[in-house]
Amino acid sequence: MPHKPFKAVIPAAGLGTRFLPATKAMPKEMLPVVDKPAIQYVVEEATAAGIQDVLIIIGRNKNNIANHFDSMPELETKLREKGDHDKLAKVEHSSDLADVHMVRQGEPKGLGHAVLRARSHVGDHPFAVLLGDDLIDERDPLLEKMMAEYDKRGATIIALMEVDPAQIHLYGVAAVEPTEDDGVVKVTQLVEKPKAEDAPSNLAIIGRYVLGPDVFDILERTEPGKGGEIQLTDALEELATGGGDGGGVYGVVFRGRRYDTGDRVDYIKAIVQLAADRDDLGPALRPWFKEFAQGL
Ligand code: UTP
Repeated sequence: MPHKPFKAVIPAAGLGTRFLPATKAMPKEMLPVVDKPAIQYVVEEATAAGIQDVLIIIGRNKNNIANHFDSMPELETKLREKGDHDKLAKVEHSSDLADVHMVRQGEPKGLGHAVLRARSHVGDHPFAVLLGDDLIDERDPLLEKMMAEYDKRGATIIALMEVDPAQIHLYGVAAVEPTEDDGVVKVTQLVEKPKAEDAPSNLAIIGRYVLGPDVFDILERTEPGKGGEIQLTDALEELATGGGDGGGVYGVVFRGRRYDTGDRVDYIKAIVQLAADRDDLGPALRPWFKEFAQGL
């Protein structure tokens, strides 16, 4: 029987401490990447993959995110009166984008806990989790492939990316076996933030997951793990080793452009790369970038 349509869940309730003081009164997911908040790129990615129902998990400073996806009648009227249709279209776009819902995570007890807050909204639908500070370049689509693998294999699907061993301790890491498909691996074990010498591979989990509703029962009983937080990786480890519906866990290996906007260096790279590639900004910026790089 075909399953119900996919929903999207975007956790955006972390403290964002790496970005203090910018994130003292504003979620890091609202930091602008060129001229759009990071989380808007993520909602656009979900809708581009055909998902209309989007649930954002919000923490303190919730109003920023809620307001961004809501209509702004006063501003819209002003722009309409001025005849500024381009800017009006940009303002309207973020409120028309998707069917956006919000739920609060009272305390930031970890990514697994944030995902569990989605349980009543998601119900018995399969769903995609997209981290609100993790940008996948729209020119390198990933989510569609993950959803297709979910349908094909009846399994949990995670996104994996090769990372430098010096960075591996920052990620959840997978032990894997090959499949018949070059870009897809079977996940046999997952470890959250291992030391480089204990990492089972150089394949790190990045912020995209396609999950079935059976993950919620596992999350309900997942104890706090690394950092005292309820880790999504720990629940996925149970699925990989036979828990849940028994379909196991597969990884889609991503080789495209990705920016972790919760990290300051990656955030700056995202802005430089995306601005340089844009038709409206690139021509003015590229000569300056060259000049700047020569002076380094
Ligand atoms: P991170 O570990 O990158 O977020 O979580 P953080 O804790 O906010 O970051 P730093 O280290 O303090 O700077 C990955 C994603 O999970 C969300 C975050 O908002 C981010 O999108 N998250 C994390 C939650 O929604 N709730 C939590 O309790 C933890």
